[in-house]
Order: sequence, then structure tokens, then C-alpha cells
Amino acid sequence: MEMPVEIVDRSPAFSIVAETAADIPAREALLDRAMGPKRRKKSSEKLRRGRRPSEGLAFVARDASGAVAGSVRLWDLVLGEGGPAALLLGPLAVDPALKNVGIGSALMRHAVAEAARLGHAAILLVGDAPYYGRFGFSAAKTGALAMPGPYERHRLLALELVDGALSGAQGTLKAAGRKQKAPMALTFAA
Ligand SMILES: CC(C)(COP(=O)(O)OP(=O)(O)OC[C@H]1O[C@@H](n2cnc3c(N)ncnc32)[C@H](O)[C@@H]1OP(=O)(O)O)[C@@H](O)C(=O)NCCC(=O)NCCS
Repeated sequence: MEMPVEIVDRSPAFSIVAETAADIPAREALLDRAMGPKRRKKSSEKLRRGRRPSEGLAFVARDASGAVAGSVRLWDLVLGEGGPAALLLGPLAVDPALKNVGIGSALMRHAVAEAARLGHAAILLVGDAPYYGRFGFSAAKTGALAMPGPYERHRLLALELVDGALSGAQGTLKAAGRKQKAPMALTFAA
């Protein structure tokens, strides 16, 4: 006689959606939990401060209850003064209680696909090659590029969305994103 089999769905119930203004406090708390207070001192932060993410390229992962379980955003850059446009990805972070269930990978795949769909040519980031390599990122084409501040050269990685987009790219990355409407100080003054 066949024994009944209990089927348990262990796949995490989460979805990747566009970030809304209402997500910002939860996203900031998540970044503090996942990355600690040093996150604001990173060189990448210089390329983000005072800017808004690239249009349509800020995402959160929500769990079944709607809570923010992960975050990724992409930012407009130019590669060297007057150079070609590209995106900076980061920070990517997942709630420490929900690591290793695929949320980071889902955020990365969604972010890369949306950036490509919107016509962007290349994505750069500063991160661990063993992790980002699985999404196609490498340091192969970043040797002549530099962050505007201290960074580890082997962690400056890139992915071309358009073949050849990074050929000949050189110089220091420069923020090119839309400016935030009001300075942070004014936003929180009330
Ligand atoms: C890095 C991070 C975003 C990964 O998210 P996640 O949802 O846990 O990742 P996934 O479940 O998609 O993938 C897990 C896999 O990545 C591997 N991995 C995670 N971080 C890694 C790293 N830094 N280097 C190499 N591999 C890594 C895991 O070992 C696991 O491997 P497996 O698939 O062979 O088992 C998450 O751990 C995090 O928020 N960390 C703290 C913040 C941070 O470091 N952000 C990245 C800034 S560079």
C-alpha cells in the first residue's frame, strides 16, 4: 500500500517589487541590520549621496506579510569626466534572518533584467567577486576605472548589458543621477 506523502513547500514566499516611499524607513533599518553603521562611509556612498536612484531601478523583496526582506538600488553614473553612462548597483542587502534562501539572487536577477530592459549599457559595483560572478560580474573591464575614494581594486566589478559598452572606459566614476528634491537636513527638519 502506498504511504501518503506530506508535501511541504519550503520555498520562501517573497516577491521583488518596485520600492515605494513607504518602504524607506524599513529599508534603512534593514541596511543598518545587514551592513552596520560603516555602510555610510563607503566610497560608493559618495556616488549616491544627494541623488535619487535611476528611474525605475529601486527594488525591495517583500515577504508574505509584505515586510521588506531585501533591498537593491541602481544609480546613474558617468565613467570618467564626460564619459559614457553606466549604472552603479548597491547596496544589495538581505535581512540577516533570511540569508541564503535566494532573496539576494532574485533581487540581482531582477535588477539586471530591468536595467537591460530600460536600455542601460553597463552596471558597476564594489563587491565580492565570488558572489557577483554568478550574475556575470567581473573585474575584467574595470582596470582603467576608479572609485572616487578608497576601495579595493579587485572588488570593482562590472557587467556589460550591451557588448563592448566598457571597451576603452577609463577614469573616475562620477555621479550623474537626478538630485534629491530637498537636502536631507530640510527633509527631516520638521
Ligand atoms: C550578500 C547578500 C546580499 C546575499 O544575499 P542572500 O539572499 O543571502 O543570497 P542568496 O540566497 O541569493 O545566495 C546565497 C549564496 O551566496 C553565497 N554568498 C553569500 N555571500 C557571499 C559572499 N560575500 N561571497 C561569496 N558567496 C557568497 C552563499 O554562500 C550562498 O551560496 P550557495 O548558493 O552556493 O549556497 C546577503 O548575505 C547580505 O545582505 N549580506 C550583508 C550585506 C552585504 O554584504 N551586501 C553586499 C555588499 S557587497
